[in-house]
Amino acid sequence: MSQALLSDETPVYDLLGVGFGPSNLALAIAVTEHNAHAADAEAVTAHFLERQPEFGWHRGMLIDDATMQVSFLKDLVTLRNPASEFSFLCYLQSKGRLVDFVNHKTLFPLRAEFHDYFQWAAARLDDEVAYGHEVVAVRPVYGRDIGDGANGGDEIVYFDVESRTGVGMRETAFWRARNLVVATGLRPNLPEGVTRGERIWHNSELLHRVDHLGEREPVRFVVVGAGQSAAEVTAFLHGRFAGAEVCSVFTRYGYSPSDDSPFANRIFDPDAVDAFYAAPEEVKQRLLDYHGNTNYSVVDLDLIDDLYRRMYQEKVLGTQRLRLFNVSHPVQVTETASGVRATVESLTTGERTELDADVVVYATGYRPDDPLTELGELGRYCLRDDRGRALVDRDYRVHTAPGVRPGVYLQGGGTEHSHGITSSLLSNNAVRAGEILRSITDRIPSRAKGVTRVRPRYAVSGTASG
Ligand code: FDA
Repeated sequence: MSQALLSDETPVYDLLGVGFGPSNLALAIAVTEHNAHAADAEAVTAHFLERQPEFGWHRGMLIDDATMQVSFLKDLVTLRNPASEFSFLCYLQSKGRLVDFVNHKTLFPLRAEFHDYFQWAAARLDDEVAYGHEVVAVRPVYGRDIGDGANGGDEIVYFDVESRTGVGMRETAFWRARNLVVATGLRPNLPEGVTRGERIWHNSELLHRVDHLGEREPVRFVVVGAGQSAAEVTAFLHGRFAGAEVCSVFTRYGYSPSDDSPFANRIFDPDAVDAFYAAPEEVKQRLLDYHGNTNYSVVDLDLIDDLYRRMYQEKVLGTQRLRLFNVSHPVQVTETASGVRATVESLTTGERTELDADVVVYATGYRPDDPLTELGELGRYCLRDDRGRALVDRDYRVHTAPGVRPGVYLQGGGTEHSHGITSSLLSNNAVRAGEILRSITDRIPSRAKGVTRVRPRYAVSGTASG
């Protein structure tokens, strides 16, 4: 339960999760499974805050025929606990599709199906989540450990978390925790100077907007980017609007395939996280460079073949609707009275082409905004390296300033520099959740050492002073 006012009697969660995407969903399951077998003193009290009104995983890109880029065996649980009741196979069983899926002989389910699986798992943990709560601030709570006497002075013993909720997000709720697990994901990335508008979209909003284009049949779309999302958006718009031209603009020569060959795929293994974490900085960088093409700016080969087949077929039939502006970039994109005008420049010849379009979709990726600085004062207590990146232990616990006892964990974003390419992906989700939970439970005995006297140092409705 959230509190309007926090006092000494306020319940303290062992674990408060910020964000409830697949990362913290996997953690919530790990906690549930742990508690099912734990003695009372070892049970972990956990709660999760999610700003969306209900569970949703990249809903704007749930294109009907898009498939997962990761094996279903890398679901929320299997690599941590193959016997879990929260596996994708248990989900299939509950939906009556297990046998049908087996006959399908694929490791890569539809994205919409995996979304449904996530939703199914999240629904079973409804009591652990507060939806419609956006975390806006984290504040320290000072106290004195009188149990082991080791800390004579004041320390930060908990974090208080403030969330906005209710109609128009105008209400405020407060929560108190011994450990925060921040899993707020990545943010849609737009090139500098580009702002979203009615006719200028990021691909993350595709399905939310495409049904509201208006009465007029669209005549042209421009899609910027050469990664998986760009290729998916291009194929989707080309298929959905049979009368419209789709112009794909990117600086590469052609779409490049993602490397999902077995040896390269090992970069996503749990062991690869150990290797990456221990490696010197220059080796880390080299690994990211070598294996960036397992994830970044690359496309599933099947989709590349599909797009090529469509383009070639149109060439044969003499109606070119799918157009490629390769080695090119948009130099200007302006909304007009009737749509949007994109000026596309060839990087080889400098030739410029004006494209009057209904919509320009930027499929230009996602960026890892610093989740720690977004949460009020929290960033102040977290230590950074000389490049300003969070210092994170192997167990995803952020190094904090002296005198800060609560744990701050980062998962699902903000740790690629320390833990490698799998950080913001699903592949290591189950195992990582287990590692974070173990780190938290390993510290639980200290809870029994003594009582903590709490002296909040802030006004509940005001700004922090601690
Ligand atoms: P995610 O972004 O999913 O969730 C973060 C949650 O935190 C969101 O629900 C958000 O609302 C919430 N939140 C943010 N700020 C908050 C705040 N202040 N307060 C409260 N809540 C807050 N990877 C892969 O391995 N295989 C794949 O097939 C794919 N496919 C794929 C498709 C598409 C279209 C995209 C965009 C990405 C993928 N990915 C992927 C990568 C993808 O980022 C990854 O699979 C997960 O979304 C990561 O899960 P997280 O929970 O870490 O972040």
